[in-house]
This record gives sequence, C-alpha cells and structure tokens, in this order.
Amino acid sequence: MIMKLSSFLAPIAKRLEGKVAVITGGAGCIGGTTARLFVQHGARVVIADVQDQLGHSLCKDQEALTFVHCDVTNESDIENLVDSTMAKHGKLDIMFGNAGITGFNDPRISVTEYQDFKRVFDVNVFGAFLCAKHAARVMVPARRGSILFTSSVASVTYGDVPHAYSASKHAVLGLAKNLCVEMGGYGVRVNCVSPFGVVTPMLMKGLGVSDKGKVEAFVADIANLKDATVEAEDIAAAALYLGSDEAKYVSGLNLIVDGGYSTTNIALREFFKKL
Ligand SMILES: NC(=O)c1ccc[n+]([C@@H]2O[C@H](COP(=O)([O-])OP(=O)(O)OC[C@H]3O[C@@H](n4cnc5c(N)ncnc54)[C@H](O)[C@@H]3O)[C@@H](O)[C@H]2O)c1
Repeated sequence: MIMKLSSFLAPIAKRLEGKVAVITGGAGCIGGTTARLFVQHGARVVIADVQDQLGHSLCKDQEALTFVHCDVTNESDIENLVDSTMAKHGKLDIMFGNAGITGFNDPRISVTEYQDFKRVFDVNVFGAFLCAKHAARVMVPARRGSILFTSSVASVTYGDVPHAYSASKHAVLGLAKNLCVEMGGYGVRVNCVSPFGVVTPMLMKGLGVSDKGKVEAFVADIANLKDATVEAEDIAAAALYLGSDEAKYVSGLNLIVDGGYSTTNIALREFFKKL
C-alpha cells in the first residue's frame, strides 16, 4: 500500500489550542511533564510551586510557560496565582491541583505525630480545596472550565502507604466527586487522575530509598501489568485528555492509571505461583 507523504508530515492535532492552564506542583516530575505536554498541545501554562529555581528553569526560553511562586497551603498565594493568571491571560480553562507530599516514613499510627499528619493534609487536601475555591471564582462566571486533581491509586487501595497519605488522597477524591455535583450546574467539570508508582523524587522519599534503580525494580515487581512501566508521561496523557474538549462530558471520574493494580490482588497471585 502506498501512503501519501502528506500523511507522514501531518502536524499532530493540538488538543488544548488556545487554553490556559495552571498546574500546582508544576516544578515536580508529573507536574513538569504535564506542563510540557500541555504546551505542545497549544496551551499557555502557569507553573505554580515552592521550588522557585526549578520552576524558573523549566520556563527558560518557553514563551507559553510562566512560573509563579505559590505555596498551596497559603490562601493568599493561591488567590494571587489565579488573579495573576487572569491578568496575564484573561481566562483560566484548566486548574490542575497536583502538588502533593507523602509525609513521613514510619507508617505506624502509634508513632505518627499530629503535626506530621496535619502537614500532609495541609498540602494534599487544603491545597486542593484552595485551588478549587479560587478556580471556581473565575470559572463559574465564565460557565466553563476543568478542575483536575492528582489523587493516587491509594484513593482506592489500602495499607500500602502511610495513613495520612491514604486518608488525604481519599479526601481529594471525595472533594472532586462532591465538587463535580456543585460545579456541574455551572458547566465546570471536576475529575481526578490517580497514578500508580511513578518513580519520582516524591516516591523515592516516601519509600525512604535513594537508589532509583532499586525503586524501579520494586515497582516493576509489585505491578500488575508486566512489560510496561508507568511514567510521568502516562499521567500527563491522562491529564491532557481530562483537560481537553475530548472529555467535554466527563465529570466526577477518578481516572486510575495503574495497569490494573487496584483491580486485582497481586500478592495472592504471586503466592499461588510459588506453590
Ligand atoms: N509518583 C508517584 O508514584 C505518585 C503516585 C500517586 C500520586 N502521586 C501524586 O502526584 C503528585 C505529583 O507528585 P510527583 O510524583 O510528581 O512528585 P514531585 O515531588 O516530583 O512533585 C511534587 C511537587 O509538589 C511541590 N509541592 C510540595 N509542596 C508544595 C506546596 N506546599 N505548595 C506548592 N507546591 C508544593 C513540590 O515542590 C514538587 O515540585 C502528588 O500529588 C502525588 O501525591 C504521585
């Protein structure tokens, strides 16, 4: 079969052409990867993070990318983030509340300090709440928008991560589903993307292991889907879909990107293999 040369040279469809997005935790692995993908698809993106140097370096020579210092636990920072985005771009189409921390390493409830538990909630849950509150402030009058949160496979599984992280990611999912009901009345969609173990600084810190190779081997071992590795690009692709008009009727979804991990009991399967 002879293919036309033009079919090889056709530009990729830009799925976010003209849209404006804010990504919190945008200097991190999943956030930064998503920011770059959004820009490739025609969006103008504001990266919000507490890592100023990294944030600025990601925006170097990228006209469509800007950085705003923002601690998501601080309401005036989020207020400023949304207001400065509106002043610069005149609208906000996508709010991706992605900033997150795992917290402390020892998972036992008996040694969990109140302040440590609260810190995880401050960033993961109150941060998501503040993103949604200030995004809604501008999206509701515009009667359009997409609010997205990064939850986790831990929003539907139990026992694999510290209590505060698990509870916080369940709370993020609950917030998204509840918000989807209120926001539906204003044409605003609300969804979550929930990754399995992407080997990022956050995951390595959470596991308390600094050897990247070891963490990759561990994740591959516990994964359900073999011969494939979950990468930040896979999470970014899910966020791209949920932020785009292809998902124009998708709201209240928890898009779990876990290769089926949460659908099965891998430990039981591995145990039977050994019999
Ligand atoms: N990596 C994984 O396996 C995995 C799995 C499930 C969910 N997640 C979630 O994905 C999201 C992104 O994590 P990642 O893996 O890219 O890790 P990462 O550490 O690379 O990125 C997290 C980013 O959040 C930023 N951040 C932390 N506290 C902040 C605050 N108070 N205000 C603003 N920014 C803050 C950090 O500076 C960092 O840039 C998190 O919500 C995390 O819980 C990650």
